[in-house]
Amino acid sequence: MNATDTTDMSSTAFSTLIRTASHEQHTEAETSTFMSDLLGGRLGVDAYARYTEQLWFVYEALEADVERLADDPVAGPFLRPELLRRTALARDLAHLRGPGWRATLTALPATQAYAARVAECARRWPAGYVAHHYTRYLGDLSGGQIIRGKAEQTWGFARKGDGVRFYVFEDISNPAAFKRSYRELLDGVRADDLERKRIIAECKRAFALNTGVFRALGEEFPLSA
Ligand code: HEM
Repeated sequence: MNATDTTDMSSTAFSTLIRTASHEQHTEAETSTFMSDLLGGRLGVDAYARYTEQLWFVYEALEADVERLADDPVAGPFLRPELLRRTALARDLAHLRGPGWRATLTALPATQAYAARVAECARRWPAGYVAHHYTRYLGDLSGGQIIRGKAEQTWGFARKGDGVRFYVFEDISNPAAFKRSYRELLDGVRADDLERKRIIAECKRAFALNTGVFRALGEEFPLSA
């Protein structure tokens, strides 16, 4: 039994439902071996670079279709230009891997699966795309700030500079207010209870896909015993 089974869908704000439903998986992602090792300063910058590479594929999938999705009544309102991450990621990767970064970039199978699911939603199911949008961008605006601080501290990147630009939202001066209005958008999503349940299930799937990437990265960067 989980929160969505026990909570009255119609009387609880959708943003609350979606957050509550993914709470357990959030903890799982946060405490995954790879994340704990990375944020605990136990891994080298190559592990951080490899993780950043994986993000490139995920944001390619999230952002490739934004012009078309902008006209969609469900997904359209979420597509705010100040969220877009590819330019920042390109700068971070150039810093981490050098100017030829694009030629050497490879997606782990778990990342391919994640990006493929995002792309599929973007093409065929805009409400499902919203679940992926929420999972990534609201997370980047929240826990992402903790990751940035740790990365600066551990690998010596300039504060909010090259290497951590992905976590810097230059055009969002008040992240708390931004998150509040984002949650209002979620609350206003025009979808019946069944479709809302599907969106919540897709959000859980998005978290599981992230955990899958962390698992694969953990295997690639085991801590030497
Ligand atoms: C070590 C890694 C992480 C840390 C330290 C972390 C930390 C946090 C914190 C402190 C918040 C609450 C912010 C607030 O209430 O305003 C938050 C929210 C959130 N995080 Fe994470 N997080 C991590 C990883 C992740 C991952 C991997 C994802 C998914 C890809 C994620 C997705 C989210 C989402 C969607 C929210 C917004 C919840 C909501 O208010 O609806 N986080 N995170």
